Amino acid sequence: MRAHVGLLYLLVHVLANARGQYDLCKSLVSTDEGAVWEHYACQPKAQAMKEYMRILVEPPGVTCGNPPERFCTLENPYLCSDECDASNPDLAHPPQLMQDRERSGLITYWQTVTWRRYPEPLQANITLSWNKTLELTDDIQITFEYGRPTVMVLEKSLNFGRTWQPYQYYADDCWDAFNIAPRRARDLTAANVTHVICTEQYSRWVGSKNEKVVRFEVRSRFAIFAGPRLLNMEGLYTRMESMKGLRDFFTFTNLRLRLLRPALGGTYVQRENLMKYFYAISNVEVLAR
Ligand SMILES: *[C@@H]1O[C@H](CO)[C@@H](O)[C@H](O)[C@H]1NC(C)=O
Ligand SMILES: *[C@@H]1O[C@H](CO)[C@@H](O)[C@H](O)[C@H]1NC(C)=O
Ligand SMILES: *[C@@H]1O[C@H](CO)[C@@H](O)[C@H](O)[C@H]1NC(C)=O
Repeated sequence: MRAHVGLLYLLVHVLANARGQYDLCKSLVSTDEGAVWEHYACQPKAQAMKEYMRILVEPPGVTCGNPPERFCTLENPYLCSDECDASNPDLAHPPQLMQDRERSGLITYWQTVTWRRYPEPLQANITLSWNKTLELTDDIQITFEYGRPTVMVLEKSLNFGRTWQPYQYYADDCWDAFNIAPRRARDLTAANVTHVICTEQYSRWVGSKNEKVVRFEVRSRFAIFAGPRLLNMEGLYTRMESMKGLRDFFTFTNLRLRLLRPALGGTYVQRENLMKYFYAISNVEVLAR
């Protein structure tokens, strides 16, 4: 008889040092070689949180298709034959398309109205709520079809949306948009890992097909403590407990994307064709526990 049919599991919390929720857990597992201890951290498993998030898009009416509207793309600005129509399932782009799994391989996305009201700003807020306190375990990745915004802010709330704080600024020109010096997450150090930065890395025009993702870099911040390949996660967990504000930095109950200026195709706004300016998001990936 194979030993692990009659497995003996023994769960032991090792409370040797005060590590809060990162107490080491180990279980005694009987195998063909005899009983061995398996060690792991006692904490919930990281999960893809997009399946559980509630999405609120503001202002009302910013989602395209009501009334139906034609649009074109920055790369094909004179072929404005695409249509968004909320009443036609094949042409509608509702918010839930940011969180669907796209199993069929077909990319589906939420899309806004075009910038027909220029020079009034084209802005939208996307508020993501979980009604639960979560801790990031990987980069947040937001995938934009047809170009990434030239200006946006990621905000977070720690108290279910009562108050908000900036999490990261994104702009093609940080000085111009926010009066902040541009920084890269990979240049952060242990001394300033929890600083809120403005990055220009995801906002410059590189063609809409080349780079679609805007990141909030969690892995490069973890790497400061866990090493470049994140092999020393214990080192990170120890810091999470001892360094003031570090755990809080990765913790949130809600996230908000403030889209402040759409992709412009690397040039100024061309008033004669405003149908090529809009936002479209196909995916929001949030891995957390
Ligand atoms: C987005 O939310 C902010 C508060 O975080 C608010 O000041 C702003 O008016 C909202 N923008 C839109 C377009 O609803
Ligand atoms: C949020 O969670 C609390 C407690 O778990 C529950 O009582 C409440 O109904 C939830 N609210 C929403 C909007 O889901
Ligand atoms: C963090 O510190 C490093 C090293 O001193 C520096 O290069 C980087 O610009 C700093 N970043 C911020 C956001 O202050």
